[in-house]
Amino acid sequence: MIVLGIESSCDETAAALVQGGRTILSSVIASQVEVHHQYGGVVPELASRMHIEAIVPVVDEAVQKAGLRLSDIGGVAATQGPGLIGALLVGFSFAKAFAFARQLPFAGVNHLEAHIYSLFLMDDPPEFPFIALVVSGGHTNVYHVTSPDQFELLGRTRDDAAGEAFDKVAKMMGLGYPGGPAIETLARTQPPDIPFPRTLLEKDSFDFSFSGLKSAVARYIHDHDVSSASEKARVAASFQKAVTDVLSQKLIQAAQFKKCSRIGISGGVSANKTVAEALVQNAAGHGIRIFTPSPALCGDNAAMVAARGYRLIEQGRLTSLKEDVYSRPKIH
Ligand code: KG4
Ligand code: ZN
Repeated sequence: MIVLGIESSCDETAAALVQGGRTILSSVIASQVEVHHQYGGVVPELASRMHIEAIVPVVDEAVQKAGLRLSDIGGVAATQGPGLIGALLVGFSFAKAFAFARQLPFAGVNHLEAHIYSLFLMDDPPEFPFIALVVSGGHTNVYHVTSPDQFELLGRTRDDAAGEAFDKVAKMMGLGYPGGPAIETLARTQPPDIPFPRTLLEKDSFDFSFSGLKSAVARYIHDHDVSSASEKARVAASFQKAVTDVLSQKLIQAAQFKKCSRIGISGGVSANKTVAEALVQNAAGHGIRIFTPSPALCGDNAAMVAARGYRLIEQGRLTSLKEDVYSRPKIH
């Protein structure tokens, strides 16, 4: 069965066609980054309006790129939450209307479960059980994944998400939005030699806290002259290393606690090669393998939504067209 997936939870309008929950026939992502860039972050009202403009052309393009007709689509899936309500409503309402008009099965998808499902779109996906980290602009969640439908939340951030910290630190240094890619590029040029704090919280906790690190960077920028590119790069590299060390330590600890030899990382921050490579190296020392989707599947996309939707539809776990979106995590 070919499933049409739709994602509109934040600042990407995306549509994808995925066959059998595994084979991507097309995946189209219309990013609004250029627009939000001017404001240094996502402006929810603007995001909703841009989703409205993009949704039909993006779905059309996905169907065309796959070389399909609408009648080839056997099911519809859309992100139901968590995310920005106005943004979610555009993709979710479109998908419900599409499913209703064509009398197709419909599945509302949890955005975090979709990020975990991006791992199943890899050529060589992780086998169960594994530890999954969803690390993005909105979330830093660690799960113990024991089956295609069982995601036990082990820990989450208590304040900022890791991606949010990247964005805020970048903003402090005038690097623009989104901050992750800018910090990654800059960080390559200088050593990470500023001793920023690593907040590890309680020994047995898998939670994260990045606000102390963010404040330490703010203080450092306030107290030192970081106007030159090389000083900015030192701050970027040192901040990135602090985030990497915390993620690495907590993930390895979670894997050891749950006796898992596999860790999957997904979400926007997992596109960071320096972070991912450091995790691979650290984990290898403990006999643990790290899995990361291809860069196009790390950030928000609709292929992961279609993959999760396929599983739900296949299991008969359909969503009523009377259901609505939700902004906050339901169970996760
Ligand atoms: O998964 P995503 O596209 O959207 C959310 O669900 O949030 O993640 C976006 C986040 C942003 O905070 C962005 O700065 C971060 O992922 N990000 C990165 C990189 N690319 C994107 N963070 C660090 N390094 C990167 N290369
Ligand atoms: Zn996301």
